[in-house]
Parts: sequence; structure tokens; C-alpha cells
Amino acid sequence: MVLVAPSILSANFADLKNEIIRLEEAGADRIHIDVMDGNFVPNLTIGPAVVKAIRPYTKLPFDVHLMVKNPDTMIAWFANAGADIITVHAEACPHLDKSLDTIRKLGCKAGVSLNPATSEESLKYVLDKVDQILVMTVNPGFGGQTFLNAQLAKITKIKQMIGNRNIQIEVDGGINPLTGAEAVAAGADILVAGTAVFTGGDYQKNIMALR
Ligand code: DX5
Ligand code: ZN
Repeated sequence: MVLVAPSILSANFADLKNEIIRLEEAGADRIHIDVMDGNFVPNLTIGPAVVKAIRPYTKLPFDVHLMVKNPDTMIAWFANAGADIITVHAEACPHLDKSLDTIRKLGCKAGVSLNPATSEESLKYVLDKVDQILVMTVNPGFGGQTFLNAQLAKITKIKQMIGNRNIQIEVDGGINPLTGAEAVAAGADILVAGTAVFTGGDYQKNIMALR
């Protein structure tokens, strides 16, 4: 079964608590939280204080996507704030192997994300240290961008590399019912979606359409 992870980047930030509650009621499988540092990506978003503030309002796992340079010091901040899964970017981690160890030692599931221009080869030597691989299907920074079709081949290659390991493939960026179906056909297990979940306001219908 395909899991749907709404990205709260597209939520109403003035009403974040109720947005989280609505997403759980609407059938979301996890909450995707896009953390941007204004450095690794040209946007600045959510810090650990906000994650901690919304943590009491849902039982859903918090899937924290760190789009930050050198995330090593920040991993503990988000683990302590209530993250369940922490994903770092391969491009942002000079010591990726160690960063993944840090995430797991703090009791979280560990993820690695790849920007569109990054080869799946960068995953080769860390496959036994990851629980999920997040394939960016847009250049990270903003919601509402167009899905990059060239990433479908990467998803398929990663699926082959994973073999029988217990690793899930998550896709993020420009996901709608059409591109989501293509990503799932290529091997994706989890669909992150901002625009496609929040547009129109009927979160349940939108999540069902993605699934
Ligand atoms: C992109 C973020 C995504 C983004 C997805 O930088 O990582 O999670 O919010 O938004 P949509 O679904 O609108 O492309
Ligand atoms: Zn994301």
C-alpha cells in the first residue's frame, strides 16, 4: 500500500495545530516537515521549537526533511523535539555515514535524500545504515514546482540497489495523482505532497486521490 505524507510547507502556518489535526483525520500516514536553512536551499522555514509545539496534537510519525548544510548539530535538536524519521541530504553531509549513525543512535529512523542532479551511486556504501531514501523530484526549496520526469529512472535504480533490505523509497516534489502513480510504478513507497493535499481544502479527498 502507498503511504501519503502531506508536507506542511503548504499548510496555513497561522493555524498549524489544527492543520495537523485535520491531516490525521483525513487519513495521512505521516507528517512531512520541511526544514530549510536559507543556505542549503534558498528558503527558511521551520525550526525545532515549532516541531516541539505541534508534537502533542497528533500520533502520526513526524518525517523531518532537513534541507540544511552540515546538519550534524541539528539532528539532536529535531530528535528531542519529537521527530520519528530524520532525513539528511547526501550533498549536505561531508560525513554522511556518521550522520546516519547519529540519527539512529538518537532513536530515530534514518533517511538520505538526493537532489535531482545527484546520482544514486552516492547511496552505495550507506545502504545498511538507512531506513528510507528520499528522492527529490524537484529542486528543493519551494512547494508547487513541476515534477522532474528524469527522476523516475533513478527511483527504479534505487529500488534495484535496495534488493531485500528493509528500506522505503519516498518521493518529494511535484507529486499529484498522475506523477504519484508514475513514481509508484517506478518503485516509490511513500508520496510526499504539499500542493496536491492542501489545494481546495478537502484533505481526505486529496489524500485518497493520491493513494
Ligand atoms: C520541496 C519540499 C517539498 C515540497 C513539496 O523543497 O521538500 O516537501 O513542500 O511540495 P509540492 O508537493 O507542492 O511540490
Ligand atoms: Zn520535503
